[in-house]
Amino acid sequence: MNRTLILALSLTAIGTLQWAVAQDRHLYDGFKLVDKTGSLRKPADYRETYQILGTWTVLDPKGNQMHYTYASPGAAEYFRRNKKFADGTVLVKEINATDHATMTTGNANWSAATQVWFVLIKDSKGRFPNNPLWGNGWGWFLFKSDAPDKQVATDFKKDCLQCHVPAQADDWIYVKGYPVLHTK
Ligand code: HEC
Repeated sequence: MNRTLILALSLTAIGTLQWAVAQDRHLYDGFKLVDKTGSLRKPADYRETYQILGTWTVLDPKGNQMHYTYASPGAAEYFRRNKKFADGTVLVKEINATDHATMTTGNANWSAATQVWFVLIKDSKGRFPNNPLWGNGWGWFLFKSDAPDKQVATDFKKDCLQCHVPAQADDWIYVKGYPVLHTK
């Protein structure tokens, strides 16, 4: 290979690396919400600053629900590049009650009051091995509307894990419901 070509290829490689590092600098660090013992504060500004990954409609005779999943800034872009969630990524899932009416579009349903918030934070380092809210690469948390800032999960293996087993191969996350993780 001639030297100019080698130089050009090296510069391209360095450029790509610098670009990736620059992108990662914009990543949100969810650990600012976590204290020394592994308790997490629900992010107050997630509706303003996080990105919506996708929504789910759950038809339930006890009351239909709409679920919104939000991700911390930079999470989707990182996922598209690396096929995994960055350490410190926060995912918030709101469960909303719904209202409905016949509208000019048809039988329309829309989100009403938020009932529950599920929060996950990616922990690639196993930071809290003795805390039952942390494990399998994530911290797992639950907040309910009667006391929206009070975390009420006690053990992720009992409160969360079983329902997430179908998504185990995707690091426990239902990525198929989130188009923005796959393409811009
Ligand atoms: C009854 C089953 C069930 C339980 C219990 C459950 N989850 Fe989930 N969770 C799901 C399903 C199914 C989805 C995706 C589809 C949906 O929302 O309907 C989901 C989605 C999520 C999401 C959005 C990211 C994703 O994986 O799609 C978060 C965040 C989440 N759950 C956190 C938790 C946490 C934290 C707990 C425990 C405190 C928990 N979940 C308990 C079934 C459950």
